[in-house]
Amino acid sequence: MSLVDQWPDGIDPDHVPTHIACVMDGNGRWARARGLPRTEGHAAGEEALLDAVEGALILGVRWLTMFAFSTENWRRPADEVRYLMGFNESLLMRRRDELHAKGVRIRFAGRRDWRVPRRVLRRMDESVELTRDNRRMTLTMAFNYGGRAEIVDAVRALVAEGVDPDGVTEKSIRAHLYQSEQPDPDLMVRTSGEYRISNFLLWQLAYSELVFSDVLWPDFRRQHLFAAVAEYQHRERRYGRVRT
Ligand code: IPE
Ligand code: IPE
Ligand code: MG
Repeated sequence: MSLVDQWPDGIDPDHVPTHIACVMDGNGRWARARGLPRTEGHAAGEEALLDAVEGALILGVRWLTMFAFSTENWRRPADEVRYLMGFNESLLMRRRDELHAKGVRIRFAGRRDWRVPRRVLRRMDESVELTRDNRRMTLTMAFNYGGRAEIVDAVRALVAEGVDPDGVTEKSIRAHLYQSEQPDPDLMVRTSGEYRISNFLLWQLAYSELVFSDVLWPDFRRQHLFAAVAEYQHRERRYGRVRT
């Protein structure tokens, strides 16, 4: 099937978001509804992630950022945290060649602190290295990521450089964020019927269009991504201006 055949109905090819960010939420509830342990919900989320990536590739989205583990998710039961660390590692092992073959550049945003097992960090580094020259799409996994922590880290870096107060600007803070060259998300999608940001990309979401879906993450497929993009295309982005 050619790309043209796959083009989803109702989407204007001239106004596809350059950057989509996604909060993959609802794994636990998906599992509970089936009488399964929460971890089964995370496992089932893998298919959703890969299908969302495929959908983004079909649309020609250049940047896709997925929230996989927050700085607050350490508060979960130790078993679940341990599972999520191992799951991230095994998902990379299983899927990185396939993503590489599709021209996806893999990156990570978040803190590399002592709580992330070294083995997991190693797999992350290997995946970044393997895919570093790919340009079709950049997939950033926000892992041990917190929007506040990111801003704190940026300000710390500025202070360490010895900038004076006048040197603290929106531009200089942005230049020290985890992915400084990446444009802000045009569209942020959150699944599972929760209407909040939960410390995701606080700086970058300032003018993003927000779309909330009731679908639980493991049930999310490319059609849901297409529906979110269609909704985005009906929004008017004003950035504080008035309509002309
Ligand atoms: C999202 O699903 C995955 C992570 C936060 C790691 P949840 O695990 O938050 O699922 P719910 O929100 O409890 O249903
Ligand atoms: C946000 O979901 C983090 C990820 C999806 C990785 P949470 O499930 O942790 O958010 P809250 O606790 O409902 O706000
Ligand atoms: Mg949740």
